[in-house]
Amino acid sequence: MSTYHTPLDLVRERSPERPVALVRPDVLAVAARWFQAHFKGDVLYAVKANPSPWVIDTLWSEGVRAFDVASLPEIDLVARAAPQAHVAFMHPVKSRSAISAAYFDYGVRTFALDCVEELAKILDATAGARDLDLIVRLAVQTEGAAYALGGKFGVGMDAAPELLLAARRATEGRMGVSFHVGSQCMRPTAYQAAMSQASRALVRAGVFADVVDVGGGFPAIYPGMSPPALEDYMDSIHRGFDEMKVHEATELWCEPGRALVAESSSLLVKVELRKGDALYLNDGSYGAMFDAAHFKWPFPVRLVRDGEVASDLKPYRFFGPTCDSVDAMAGPYYLPADVQEGDYLEIGQMGAYGVAMATRFNGYGEMETAVVGDAPMASQFGLARRSIPSPRLAEDETRKVVRFSRPKGQAGKRRKRK
Ligand SMILES: Cc1ncc(COP(=O)(O)O)c(C=O)c1O
Repeated sequence: MSTYHTPLDLVRERSPERPVALVRPDVLAVAARWFQAHFKGDVLYAVKANPSPWVIDTLWSEGVRAFDVASLPEIDLVARAAPQAHVAFMHPVKSRSAISAAYFDYGVRTFALDCVEELAKILDATAGARDLDLIVRLAVQTEGAAYALGGKFGVGMDAAPELLLAARRATEGRMGVSFHVGSQCMRPTAYQAAMSQASRALVRAGVFADVVDVGGGFPAIYPGMSPPALEDYMDSIHRGFDEMKVHEATELWCEPGRALVAESSSLLVKVELRKGDALYLNDGSYGAMFDAAHFKWPFPVRLVRDGEVASDLKPYRFFGPTCDSVDAMAGPYYLPADVQEGDYLEIGQMGAYGVAMATRFNGYGEMETAVVGDAPMASQFGLARRSIPSPRLAEDETRKVVRFSRPKGQAGKRRKRK
């Protein structure tokens, strides 16, 4: 991978035609060290957030020894990059062949499940293995997450005790509980609340867990989304763990994806055309910008131009390169008023669920990767500012003020009479 001091240096030197994933391994290293220093347990990186080889390599060299994977290709990726790693197959629904290959070919022993059918499948596909670590995924309340994950997986609290007991009896290895409070969880106490639900299910089942896995959900900084300090999340988890009925050797695990990698990568795109407030880019929703299009996820943007730049900002919409009309990102994205064809834009905080989502639809989506040495656009690890103001929020706030000054109904009438 080529290395540049800043994204502008890259643009000056090469004017890239394809989108470029701008990666900052040093930033990832800081995040990895932070998690390992502050979390009193094992940190399993959720590979799905960004499976790029440089991510796995950096985490491994920073001491991360465990990886949460969702598929056989992710197992293979980790096995090649970090053969000694503890690999946990945490997808609650797996194919028989994937379970067998994981167990027999890759030595995976940790499997998640959320129903008796999956438990039976795991036992069958491993020829009745007794050395499994069986982690029961619980459905917990996910208030406070920007991206809820509760609807698809997790056993409900009514059925949980029976499943926990069945998992306990099925193995001579470890039995554990896991949950996911939802991605980009903005409320640290959500972890403590989920742990208290997990504890109640364990008590009702009459079993002790060997593992308490609090999943992912740790937030990153985006425009208008300034999460509480990550220390508050750690405090909530450690308090929750202290309150749980567990035994002395019970292990605490977490599976961060977003918070570990979000800051460490951004995306450099080229403006292929400007039509009024619409910028047509060389990457979009079928590339690394899935979340920007489909969830209106707010990403910070900046113009990367070698030369004069207009000082006034203007709201823009983005369109991606494919012919599909859903390949559109409404934003608004605030950029200098004079953006034009041939300009480059940097889209920040794209390390999580960015390049991981890219497809080759319409022949687009191929990306270069380059290392840059500048700071991310925002950082929870002390590497840049701690929040990014949202221009859209500022607009909404203005509208709110207008509404307050002219209240409807009786209150409004009273004010008019005065
Ligand atoms: C089982 C599991 N663990 C961890 C994660 C990572 O979550 P996050 O990126 O919110 O930290 C996910 C994300 O979907 C997940 O499904």
